[in-house]
Amino acid sequence: MQFTVAIDGPAAAGKGTIGRALAARFGFAHLDTGLLYRAVGAKGGDPVLAAQSLTAEDLARDDLRSMAAGEAASRVAAIPQVRAALLDFQRVFARRLGGAVLDGRDIGTVICPNAEVKLFVTATAQIRAHRRWLELGGDEGQILADVIARDARDMGRSDAPLRAADDAVTLDTSDLPIEAALARAVAEVEAKLPKSQG
Ligand code: C5P
Repeated sequence: MQFTVAIDGPAAAGKGTIGRALAARFGFAHLDTGLLYRAVGAKGGDPVLAAQSLTAEDLARDDLRSMAAGEAASRVAAIPQVRAALLDFQRVFARRLGGAVLDGRDIGTVICPNAEVKLFVTATAQIRAHRRWLELGGDEGQILADVIARDARDMGRSDAPLRAADDAVTLDTSDLPIEAALARAVAEVEAKLPKSQG
């Protein structure tokens, strides 16, 4: 069975949590596509060459989760040739047998416009910055400024900007507890699964 769940949204909205939980529940493979851009940014040198030669080791670096790596990712992600170099890998992953969940910024709009389920997971910048601060520590005001700047860059770029696909279901986790958001995501998948799989 080929079955793709596309999850998009800004940083720290809950995409990863929902994506991992859906993958575990339905036995689907999960790809955090932000990690691809983070690895390209962290590799240094020419970002296009870095994207074209990305290895499993690059993706396993332990410094990819920092705010600095997110910032570097967002810069290289605005380069069309970087995005083009990462496209096939994501599309092949999305159509693997057994089902796949991909989370990122352009999965429902560009990578998998025909995904069976599309979710757009969002929350206010203040709430997302607070979550990042709980996770990473540091200066919460600075984290909020970084979150706002990264949103603006991701939404304002000309190639594959962050936006909800027209047919995506929006889950705003500002007030919705993550368990409730997950329950809605599970219901969306169950409604679309072939009956023999449900
Ligand atoms: O989701 P994460 O914070 O790891 O993403 C880091 C950056 O990578 C994002 O701010 C965005 O610029 C870029 N990205 C992207 N398209 C994706 C996933 C991430 O442009 N599908």
